[in-house]
Amino acid sequence: MHGRSSGEMPMSGKGAVYSFERFGGTINAPHRAFLWSIGLDPSDIGKPLAGVVVAWSESGPCNFHTLNLIGYVKQGLRDAGCVGLAMPTIVVNDNISMGTEGMRYSLVSREVIADSVEAQIVAHAYDGFVGIGGCDKTQPGIMMAMARINRPSIYMYGGSAEPGFIGEKKFTIEDVHEYVGAYISGKISEQELLQVEMVAHPTYGACAGLFTANTMAILSEGLGLALLGSSSPTATSSRRAIFAYETGKALGTLLENGIKPRDILTYEAFRNAATLLMASGGSTNGILHLLALAYEAGVKFTLDDFDEISKKTPYILSMRPAGEFVMADLDRVGGAPLLLKKLLDAGLIDGGVLTVSGKTLAQSLKEYRLPDVPHEHIVRDPSKPIKKTGGIRILRGSLAPEGAVVKTAATGVTRFEGSARVFDDEESAFEAVRGGTVKEGDVLVIRYVGPKGAPGMPEMLRVTAALSGAGLGESVAMVTDGRFSGATRGIMVGHVAPEAASGGPIALVEDGDKILIDTDAGRLELQVSREELERRRRDLKPKPPKATSGLLAKYASLVSSASTGAVTMPRL
Ligand code: FES
Repeated sequence: MHGRSSGEMPMSGKGAVYSFERFGGTINAPHRAFLWSIGLDPSDIGKPLAGVVVAWSESGPCNFHTLNLIGYVKQGLRDAGCVGLAMPTIVVNDNISMGTEGMRYSLVSREVIADSVEAQIVAHAYDGFVGIGGCDKTQPGIMMAMARINRPSIYMYGGSAEPGFIGEKKFTIEDVHEYVGAYISGKISEQELLQVEMVAHPTYGACAGLFTANTMAILSEGLGLALLGSSSPTATSSRRAIFAYETGKALGTLLENGIKPRDILTYEAFRNAATLLMASGGSTNGILHLLALAYEAGVKFTLDDFDEISKKTPYILSMRPAGEFVMADLDRVGGAPLLLKKLLDAGLIDGGVLTVSGKTLAQSLKEYRLPDVPHEHIVRDPSKPIKKTGGIRILRGSLAPEGAVVKTAATGVTRFEGSARVFDDEESAFEAVRGGTVKEGDVLVIRYVGPKGAPGMPEMLRVTAALSGAGLGESVAMVTDGRFSGATRGIMVGHVAPEAASGGPIALVEDGDKILIDTDAGRLELQVSREELERRRRDLKPKPPKATSGLLAKYASLVSSASTGAVTMPRL
């Protein structure tokens, strides 16, 4: 019944910190009037008000289904004594924008997502929220908002797609990119390419391999921001609904106990996540996103931490693109909790950190029931790793004084010395591969594609996949101030900092210069004398900005170096 007098106003329930101030009390009648319009009841005032933030879009399969999960989350919230209201955030689909103008909006969308969640949650006085992501940037974007707003919140992944099959052979979207490379170099027919294209991503859900989406999903468990086991069920699994319900319910407990993301996102939690990233051989984007999340959480966590952790973390997970398996396979043997348990038992992570379960990671893992099935083919024991050190290494040297990243899991080559072929955009590099002018021993230097320069630091999957498809994956290297897709394979060094647009040494490279990549020693060297580099620097003319209006121009004016997560920092 509407129209209660102020005397009948309910008391604020535990956890209704922000909402009661907005909706309780007589003078808040105008605010309340809008709640009655959408079906809330006076008895709802005083209960914690939780947002259900859903990154949803029909622009591709990754977030196609996420709206369907809202009802389950809201039911969990209701059963926990809370009120849940849903709201959207945007999606930029990486695969559909890959290799095009659109890719410049991908990393930018991470900031837009974080900003849009902040705006909605704070403007409408939500006490906390559940965030559901899918495609690559939706996940760090939502987690960054959790850290930034610091109200009780839980992340949940929408799940990845099932793999495709032709006979017994398994396919993912990465294969389509590489088949394009094989097609343009004359290795396969158009018919073979079409056949793979039709089966590679057979259901809705994010990319099936351990590319960026699944990497970030696993990391959400490693950070303690998601319920254990919630990242690996496929998007089509009925367990998604169960996790959605449980996530809603768990948020109720967090609201009641006042546990906030920054209670969870400690330095130790970031160490755990970085260890999980290295042990799993996940996407290099994981580095960028963890740096950005640490920035939002106010935790000092740098490339040096990744470097130190990488050196002592064994790489133990065999998933595509480096290994054989996909997320659905990992799910069958225990998902991220299996990895975390192995790392905990080996003393490589800290079990004392708090998680969204309200318990420590060690307690939660102890209570989690892992399936009793053989798993050594996917997840090795840390004492018998695939490689003794982590799947990603940080490189430094004259070409990247602030750092660069290389995915060692994606290549068997640890040292590469070659001649630079310089490109100021991705398209001309792709055309060079397509035209057959790239040869063994070349180092493709693709620059002015960094956070500021592109702007938006696009991924170079089109070029790297074309190299792999042309059989040059292990004989041609790439060095760029852009990013790589999680699906990238080969000797690929990205995130070179400072970037060319900020006057980094990568801007000084010329065709024919010798470049050394040494992943064991962590070095990336431009083998040109200091005098010559000084001469080139004197002659260097700054390039005009590629974007002068709109979102990309705003982003370029605010974005930080990739070595600090490419976050948009206010210039106050
Ligand atoms: Fe969306 Fe891969 S393109 S997860």
